[in-house]
Amino acid sequence: MPFARGRPYLAIPGPTVVPDRVLAAMHRPAPDIYGAPLQEMAESLYPDLRHLAGTTGHVAIYIGNGHAGWEAANANVFSRGDRALVLVGGHFGLGWANALRAIGVEVEALDLDRRSAPDPGLVEAALRADRGGRIRAVLTTHVDTATSVRTDIADLRAAIDAAGHPALLMVDCIASMGCDRYRMDDWGVDVTVAASQKGLMTPPGLAVLWFSEKARAAGRDAGLRTPYWAWEPRALPTGFWQRWAGTAPTHHLFGLREALTMLVREEGIEAAWSRHAALAGAVWAAAEVWSAGGALELNVHDRAARAHGVTALSLPPPLGARLREWTERVAGVTLGIGIGQPEPAAQGHFRIAHMGHVNAHMVMGVLGVVEAGLAALGVPRGAGALEAAAAALAAAAARAG
Ligand SMILES: Cc1ncc(COP(=O)(O)O)c(C=O)c1O
Repeated sequence: MPFARGRPYLAIPGPTVVPDRVLAAMHRPAPDIYGAPLQEMAESLYPDLRHLAGTTGHVAIYIGNGHAGWEAANANVFSRGDRALVLVGGHFGLGWANALRAIGVEVEALDLDRRSAPDPGLVEAALRADRGGRIRAVLTTHVDTATSVRTDIADLRAAIDAAGHPALLMVDCIASMGCDRYRMDDWGVDVTVAASQKGLMTPPGLAVLWFSEKARAAGRDAGLRTPYWAWEPRALPTGFWQRWAGTAPTHHLFGLREALTMLVREEGIEAAWSRHAALAGAVWAAAEVWSAGGALELNVHDRAARAHGVTALSLPPPLGARLREWTERVAGVTLGIGIGQPEPAAQGHFRIAHMGHVNAHMVMGVLGVVEAGLAALGVPRGAGALEAAAAALAAAAARAG
């Protein structure tokens, strides 16, 4: 007899749990898009978005998902025949590289080990070898959601500078914005891409681009730019409609307003990063104990290279798929699928999301359900995973005061 009745928990890495307050903010009649109340509310998003990403640069919002964010970034920087250096450390790095290839940009892909942080020396070497200066930008994910590897962005900027190369640095923060520490200006990032449906706690439908003045200038002659994707009218409009190239995504804007109020104005971004670090620590503590049993493995062994919003794990196939089926059917918890893995390995992989509107009891609940699922499936595992997670949380809370 399953015990799934009650509030279900979608523990996949996007879309994430949408706070009731965000849903309530969206539940309203359509506003007048020509009226001051909507326009003033929308304008209030931009300072909060700048603060969130740690930049004084420009912000453009698009009606679209993460793929739209990639396309917007690509179209405003590149011309057909340009060259890009793309760090491919997982499914999403590959996706960005393919999106560039599809529009006629030449991609030099650094095919990385999908389990550890990229070696910045590889980027430096690739840029030094680019004697003709053809590489226009270096592109990377901050967190590749498929692998849960986190890249050290400041190290990448240092590598670009060490090579003395003028390439722009473009970062996909779709899975990390609001979860993992990010300082766009301090780290010398030129273009940052995010989307509404993960750490930003808003339904899928908005992509956000932050871009530096340097990127704006470098992209001035970008031949792939079309009117809809052009970032300048959206970021520096002369009329409100230009922000959206047409009708504003009204209800998503109300949702994002509420989410940013919660994240930036009430909790504070430093506190949100600490919360995600503490919750990630609890998940890792449990998973490290489970892995002592020999069946379960964390994808990323080095804690310093692990994302704070998602953890990728594997079991011998098809146990990952069976575990996900069990937790959803019996306990109302939906875990993330393995993504970007060949069959049959894909049937072993699964992911636990701990990003966005998530707190300690939600994470402890997921871990307890996974423990029960592993027991039900007879998976050999180390004992004491939940105690380890609880101890990690208690220690993090003590450090936070
Ligand atoms: C790191 C990363 N980049 C890009 C994407 C693509 O975003 P979307 O599915 O919203 O198009 C995702 C989606 O999960 C992602 O996690």
